[in-house]
Amino acid sequence: MKCVLVLLCLVTFNLSFTQVSPIIPTPVVYKELNETLNFDGELLVSFAGLSTNLETQITNLARMYHGIQLSIYSSGPKVLFKKLENVIQDSYSINVSNEIVVSYSSEASCFYAFISLMQLIENTSSGFQLKKCFVKDYPKFSWRGLHLDVSRHFFSVEEVKKFIDLMSLYKFNTFHWHLTDDQGWRIEIKNFPKLAEIGAWRDSTINDHYSTKPRTYSYKKYGGFYTQEQIKEVVAYASSKFVTIVPEIEMPGHSRAALAAYPEYSCTGIQQGVEGLWGVFDDIFCSKEETILFLQKILDEVILLFPGKYIHVGGDEAPKTRWEKCTNCQKVMHENNLKNEHQLQSYFIQRMDKYLTEKGRKLIGWDEILEGGLSSNAAVMSWRGIEGGVEAASQEHEVVMTPGSHCYFDHYQGKGRNEPLAIGGFTPLEKVYEFNPIPNQLNKKYEPYILGGQANVWTEYIDDFEKVEYMVYPRALALSQALWCAEKPSFNEFKNVLIDKHLPFLKKMNVHYAKTIFSPKIEWEKSNKGVQFKIKSNEQEEIYEVESSKYRNKKFSKMNFDVSKDESVEINRSEKDQINYTYCLKSKNDSLTTQFDIQATHSLGIPVKYITQPSSSYNSGNLTLVDGQHGSLPWKRNEWIGFDTTEIDIEIDLLKKQKYNQLNISFLSDEHSWIHFPQQIEVFYLDKEKWKHYSSSVHFSYLQSEQVRSFQVALNKPTRHVRIKIKSLAEIPAGFPGAGHIPWTFIDEIEVVK
Ligand code: ACM
Ligand code: ZN
Repeated sequence: MKCVLVLLCLVTFNLSFTQVSPIIPTPVVYKELNETLNFDGELLVSFAGLSTNLETQITNLARMYHGIQLSIYSSGPKVLFKKLENVIQDSYSINVSNEIVVSYSSEASCFYAFISLMQLIENTSSGFQLKKCFVKDYPKFSWRGLHLDVSRHFFSVEEVKKFIDLMSLYKFNTFHWHLTDDQGWRIEIKNFPKLAEIGAWRDSTINDHYSTKPRTYSYKKYGGFYTQEQIKEVVAYASSKFVTIVPEIEMPGHSRAALAAYPEYSCTGIQQGVEGLWGVFDDIFCSKEETILFLQKILDEVILLFPGKYIHVGGDEAPKTRWEKCTNCQKVMHENNLKNEHQLQSYFIQRMDKYLTEKGRKLIGWDEILEGGLSSNAAVMSWRGIEGGVEAASQEHEVVMTPGSHCYFDHYQGKGRNEPLAIGGFTPLEKVYEFNPIPNQLNKKYEPYILGGQANVWTEYIDDFEKVEYMVYPRALALSQALWCAEKPSFNEFKNVLIDKHLPFLKKMNVHYAKTIFSPKIEWEKSNKGVQFKIKSNEQEEIYEVESSKYRNKKFSKMNFDVSKDESVEINRSEKDQINYTYCLKSKNDSLTTQFDIQATHSLGIPVKYITQPSSSYNSGNLTLVDGQHGSLPWKRNEWIGFDTTEIDIEIDLLKKQKYNQLNISFLSDEHSWIHFPQQIEVFYLDKEKWKHYSSSVHFSYLQSEQVRSFQVALNKPTRHVRIKIKSLAEIPAGFPGAGHIPWTFIDEIEVVK
C-alpha cells in the first residue's frame, strides 16, 4: 500500500512543489498544488468504519477549529476515510483534490490526520479554503510526552483535562502525571486514607524564590487530591484523545507528604508536617520490609486505576543520610549483602520492578535508578543530562530522554525582566527546537532503546494554570517537532508557521501562551558618552511597530523608534539619573511590552579590565558591570559576572581624573548554587604610577541573611584609575552545600557616583 501511495503522490503532484506545511508538527511529506478547494462551513462525511469515539472526536475537532459542521447530508466537499494496512505505526495520509481522502492505519492516526486536516483549512472572508495537497505522515518516536507536577501546586480535573486536550492537538501521546512529592500527595488510596486526608494538605508555602532571603511563608492551608473516580474520569478522557497516562508515585525520596500521614515508614518515625519549602529533604521512606509492602499495596490501587504499561516510581534525589544511621536500613543491607546505600536504593527499586513486572507492568524511574545497579526490567528517564540515557540504552534498557538542558519547561524561556518568576535555567524556544532525543554518543545499535522524549513541568513557581500554559506554550510546539519529525524544517520556518497559524489558534483556545518570542533583542554597546542600545529583531519583518517611551526626571516622553533603520538610543553618563524605557512591540498577531531601567552614573560604559578572568560560563563581557543595570533576582547567567577563584582583581578607568564621591559594588549570595559573599575588599587609586590604598580593607562578617550586598567605599582622593581587589572565603564553610569547595563570587554592578 505504501508503494501505491507514493506512486499516487508522484502522479498527482508531478508539477507540484514542496512548501513549508502549516501543520505542526511538520509532516513527513507535504506537497501543495497551486489550487484551492473552497467550501462553506459544511463537509460531507461518512463515518463508516470509524469508532464512536473517533466520530465524536472528529466532529468536535471540526467544530472547535473552525465551527465546521460534518454531515452525511451536506452538499459540501466529501471527506472519505480509508483504512491502511501494513504501514508504519500510526501513519496516515491526506489527499486533498475536489474531495478529501483521509487514509489512516490506527485509531490514533485517524485522529492525528483529522487534526492535520483542520490545520490545513483557512477561514477566509470568502469562506473556507484549503490548498489541494498531499500529506503523508508518521511519528519518529513512540513516546511523545509532557509531564505535570500537581504536588507543588495542585490543578483541578478541568485544568488537567485542558492540559491533555491541548497536548493531544500537537500529537503528544504520553501524559506523565507527577502525583506525589514532599509538598503534597494527590491521589486517593483507599487502603491508606490518611495519604489524602493528611498528605494532601500543607500548612505553609514559601513565598518568592527559595533563594530569596529572608525566606517568608504564607500560612494558608494549601492542597487537594483527586478521588479515584476523578482519576478514572481523567484516564478515560485522555484515552479518548489517544493519550496514555503514566502515573508517578515517588519513592524512596520526595516522600515527605506520605510520611506526614504515615511516619512509621520513615527511618526515624518522627512526625513531621507536609513540607512547605521546595528542595530535597533528608527524610525519605525507610527501606525496611514494612515500607516495601506499604508501597506495593499503594501500587496495587494505582495499577487498577491506570491501564497503561508504565508506572513511574521516581527514584530521584534521595539523600542517604537517614539510611546510613538507621538500624532497619543497615539490617536490610546486611541481610542482602549490599555494600552501600546506593545498592540499597537499587534493591528497593528492584523489589518494585519485580512486583510491577509480575503484574504485567513496566517500571520507569529517573536516572538515579542507575546508581547501585539498574534493575533488570526498568526503563529510565534521563533528566540530569543525557549520560544516564546513554548508559541505560547501552545496557539495552528502554529510555525516555528529558534532559534539563532542553526539556525543563520550568526554566526561563527569555531573558527579559518581565518574564515571570521561574526556578532558574534558560531554555528558550530555539533550544527546545534543537532537541534530539538520540544522543550523538550513543552507539547506533542501541538507538531503538530510545523511546522518545518529554518535557517536564515542575510547578514550584507555577501556582496557577495560566502560568502552566505560559511555561508550556509555545515551547510544547517546538518539542512536538523534535519528537514527531524525522527531519525538521529550519527554526525560522517553524517560527513563521507558529506565528502565522498556531499562536492565533492558541489564542482562540484561550491558552495563555508566552509571547517571549516577540521580545526585542536589545544590543548594548559602549558609546563615547556612556552606553547605547539598539533594538533588533531576528527577522525585521516580524516587527511592525515599536512604541517606545522614556521616563526620566518625572517627565514622560514618547519616542519614535524605527527598528528597520538600525537606530540606537544613547544614555549619557552625565545624566546621573534613573531612566525607565518601555517598548511595545507589535507584530502580525501579537504585541509585547518590555520595560527596563538604567541608572546613569560616572561609571556608565567605562572601560573595565579583568585582571582576573571571570569563569567562561558567567562572563557576559566587560560591559555587564557598568551597563547601568543591576543584576536581577533570581539571578540569571548573563546579568552577573561570576568568578571561581579566591582572589579577584578588576581595574576600571573613569576616563577623567577628578575627585569622585563613592564607589558601590554589589555581590550576590545563593548558597544552594555555592555562591557566597566575599570576605574582603580593597580599593586602590593610581597615583604617580603607584597603586595606593583608598581605605583600610573591609571585611564582611559571615552573615548570609541577604541575597545582594552592596559595598561602599569613599573615593576621597582624585583619580582616574581604580583597582578593586576581592578575596572570597578560602572554602565554603561546613553546613553549606558544597562545603570545602572554593565558593563562587558573583558581581554586578560597579557604580561610581559624585
Ligand atoms: C527531577 O527533576 N528531580 C527529576
Ligand atoms: Zn531506615
